[in-house]
Amino acid sequence: MCGIFGYLGNEDAVPILLEGLRTLEYRGYDSAGIFVPGYGAVKSAGQIVNLEKKLDKDIKGKSGIAHTRWATHGVPSEKNAHPHHDMSGQLWLVHNGIIENFRELKEGLLVQGIKFYSDTDTEVLIKLIGSFYSGDLLQATKLALKAVRGTYGLAVMSETEPDKIVVARMGSPIVLGIGKDGNFISSDPSALLIHTKNVVFLDDGEVAVVKKDSYEITTIEGVKKEKKSERIEWSHEAVQKNGYEHFMLKEIFEAPEVIENTLRGRLKLDTGEAKLGGLEAITHRLKNIQRLYIVGCGSAYYAGQVGRYMLEEYARLPVEVELGSEYRYKKAYPDKRALALFVSQSGETADTRASLEKAKELGLTTVGMVNVVGSAISREVDAGIYNYAGPEVAVASTKAFLSQLTAFALLTLFLGRERGMTQVEGIEIVRALHKLPETIKKVLATSESIAKVAKKYAHCRDFMYIGRAFHSPIAYEGALKLKEVTYIHAEAYAGGELKHGPIAMLDKNFPVMALMPQDMVYEKMISNIEEIKARSAPIIALATEGDLRISSVADDVIYMPKVHPLLQPIISVIPLQLFAYYVGVEKGLNVDRPRNLAKSVTVE
Ligand code: G6P
Repeated sequence: MCGIFGYLGNEDAVPILLEGLRTLEYRGYDSAGIFVPGYGAVKSAGQIVNLEKKLDKDIKGKSGIAHTRWATHGVPSEKNAHPHHDMSGQLWLVHNGIIENFRELKEGLLVQGIKFYSDTDTEVLIKLIGSFYSGDLLQATKLALKAVRGTYGLAVMSETEPDKIVVARMGSPIVLGIGKDGNFISSDPSALLIHTKNVVFLDDGEVAVVKKDSYEITTIEGVKKEKKSERIEWSHEAVQKNGYEHFMLKEIFEAPEVIENTLRGRLKLDTGEAKLGGLEAITHRLKNIQRLYIVGCGSAYYAGQVGRYMLEEYARLPVEVELGSEYRYKKAYPDKRALALFVSQSGETADTRASLEKAKELGLTTVGMVNVVGSAISREVDAGIYNYAGPEVAVASTKAFLSQLTAFALLTLFLGRERGMTQVEGIEIVRALHKLPETIKKVLATSESIAKVAKKYAHCRDFMYIGRAFHSPIAYEGALKLKEVTYIHAEAYAGGELKHGPIAMLDKNFPVMALMPQDMVYEKMISNIEEIKARSAPIIALATEGDLRISSVADDVIYMPKVHPLLQPIISVIPLQLFAYYVGVEKGLNVDRPRNLAKSVTVE
């Protein structure tokens, strides 16, 4: 979604601000802009290169704010791009989020004779800040924010106070980067890595005044907050393509390393147990839990669905999986023996956060499964499991999804051993987990043959994905990947549901991706594909190495190694990620930044 970057220091601000914007590009945007005190703002619709072309070489300021906008109120255009200014033209604002009461606020400002030039809610906010301004930017910002309802991560500057940026957060992230020779602000910690790894995460309701050598944080009500910087362990290289054509391919190929990182220090080979330090704070409560609610959006939701099969089968724990956008509005009941787990790569997804808030109000014990260290969800839960997948840049989630499945396998082992899983079973799972990165390398080595199959089917308009049991949510995730990066209409069904309607659509132009590892539902899947064959629909089977029976029924077969059934979904999803990637590339699409999508959805 939108991105914010800002700088104060001794260097030329413009190249630093542009570099910051380029690092934020992956989040999706449709216009961009920059403000440097003394030189005003430059904005442009479309790509950052358009903005670069418009920038005068003589802009030599030492501070500034910049923004990539993803349109919500008003079309993508230069007029609507940020930064926006107040009536005096002295104050400039960049803003992520949505000001819900902007219409009421605008009416009040119109009565005062204030004029508007754009269709945005952001312009209303800066006009409001301007109406309170009498030489103190912090004060004016706080007064305006008290009148605002909605979400924001924002940065504001004044021509008359060029040595400071005022930032504030409510529902949309803002991180300060504390450098040696200057300070930075951003909506995304990965944009700071090239400059510094020392960061300060703002919490909701906090406002900060950032100068080149200091920062001061207070709440909107003026209560002072002492916050020391913390170190983020991501490397700058992790947000580079490193020779790969696309981030998506690089991130799929990072899988073995990602899984090693998710597992590091968490497996006890001798006792067959998992160690999850982030859950220690709630150990006593875990002993008595009788139900688990898993909440997430998009791929995180499907990871939760796989987690359900894992936990119910191997940890004997009843699980319910909910979409963030549904859980937050549905009737739910207090339950002392339930645990609520929130899965989110970014840790900032608005619906998942709102669901977390609801679970807390109900008095449930809350746990996060989050990738971005320091993100909102990671800070708001009672306990957590970090994914350690490193920064994920491609919009469609691949490596983070794998690390979520791996973390679910760890959680299954962790809770399972408390709930009747034998040591023998535990050791078997630990050994299988330990071998997983090597097995994944074998899957990745088959990428060329997957690319060939992808090429053959890239022209198709429709696709069906089917799977059963552990592989039913993997079918959904596979179809989601195809939709996201190729725009092909893809449906997913649990194999048994095919007869109840969707089979009516199948014909020779409607291929089916059938997920059929040799597991307990293999025979059922064979019946499914026989039915599909009778309707002349082409079949691609994702099958276990050595399965000879499958090639007589399927048109194409993608083989994968057999692993412990708990871990098979981790293996199976990789060929599906690669398949979607290669179809997208074959169609000439921007697989890293698909149209209409955002990496992190921080508004409802
Ligand atoms: C967006 C992304 C998806 C992601 C979903 C949930 O829609 O495009 O890839 O799965 O948000 O994001 P989260 O950060 O909460 O995992």
